[in-house]
Amino acid sequence: MDTSTDALEAFFNNVITVKVDDSHDAVDIIDQTLLPTKVKRIKLHTREDIWEAIKKLRVRGAPAIGVCAAYGMALLADGYNTNNRAEFDQRFNQDKKYLASSRPTAVNLFWALNRMQSTLNSLPDSTSIPEVKAELWKEADAIQNEDVAISKNIGELGFNLIEELKVEGKPVGIQTHCNAGTLATAKYGTATAPMYTALEHGWAGTDMHVYCDETRPLLQGARLTAFELMNAGITTTVQCDNMASILMKSGAIDIIFVGCDRVAANGDAANKIGTSGLAIIANHYHVPFYVCAPTSTIDMSTPDGSKIPIEMRDGDEVTEMWYKHRMAPEGVDVYNPAFDVTDANLITGIITERGICHAPYNEAFKKIGMI
Ligand code: MRU
Repeated sequence: MDTSTDALEAFFNNVITVKVDDSHDAVDIIDQTLLPTKVKRIKLHTREDIWEAIKKLRVRGAPAIGVCAAYGMALLADGYNTNNRAEFDQRFNQDKKYLASSRPTAVNLFWALNRMQSTLNSLPDSTSIPEVKAELWKEADAIQNEDVAISKNIGELGFNLIEELKVEGKPVGIQTHCNAGTLATAKYGTATAPMYTALEHGWAGTDMHVYCDETRPLLQGARLTAFELMNAGITTTVQCDNMASILMKSGAIDIIFVGCDRVAANGDAANKIGTSGLAIIANHYHVPFYVCAPTSTIDMSTPDGSKIPIEMRDGDEVTEMWYKHRMAPEGVDVYNPAFDVTDANLITGIITERGICHAPYNEAFKKIGMI
């Protein structure tokens, strides 16, 4: 496969996770539930469409959820048929509350909704309604564009780490969990950003070997990350989550990059279920374990991981969703948390767009301007 930067750019242009319909009458997303067999875009017109797309993981990954919610608010506000600012603000509040109820763990959802709210609040009552609507679209565009720049910076910092691991004649072994890639963000991904940045720095796709955890139960690693990396021409292997220990023991893995949905002030990091187990194994085998986190994912108001709300999802995702026949007895109780929290002491470093933070994280986050 071609790994030139032109090919990489073409790949990014083909996989635009969230965008706005040209006529500004819909949020346009790739329906990620259909990947990798079907690349299909769908249009979200109503608040119910947007809520359902986030809830059902048609659009997913913390930054992409934020971008979708921001464009969603701009779209909904654009449809308010009133010239009365108080009525406009009231409808905005109701829609914001509704979208905020879609998923609880990724803090980027609330961060993006609050940014849209702050934009609205900053506009004096004398601002005409068409101007208010235009400002909301502008803010959503800014959130999208900033996300590209943020993941680019994370990519450069992560690339420095993999460059140090490069030895002649052997690809750098990288493991990742879930999908913290292009499909989860506006462009480079977070955990995948070091890999795409390596291609931009002239590495061949064969200079690295990325091992994607399948990521039970919703298979984001197998369906989405492997799809992305192969399309970008990077050597890719998929393994089941319970193979991490034998894989690391074999010496194949030089470094691990994962994304995150919310980082607490002490550095505890919530990410897709299975991440904390991976970190524990990595610690055992002394494999560096990095969490890639835009600062929008760091929640200084949450003191530690025990306070991060963990989304519980339907049991049929475990027992039925991917099978021709049920794979557990009818009526069995199912435990299906969507995320777990990796303890800060298991994390080698947290890569933000402003620099790599190391323990003690509370202090490191303050140094990069988090309050
Ligand atoms: O349930 P998902 O698929 O939304 O979970 C996604 C993850 O856990 C990602 O690793 C995280 O959101 C970071 S995406 C850059």
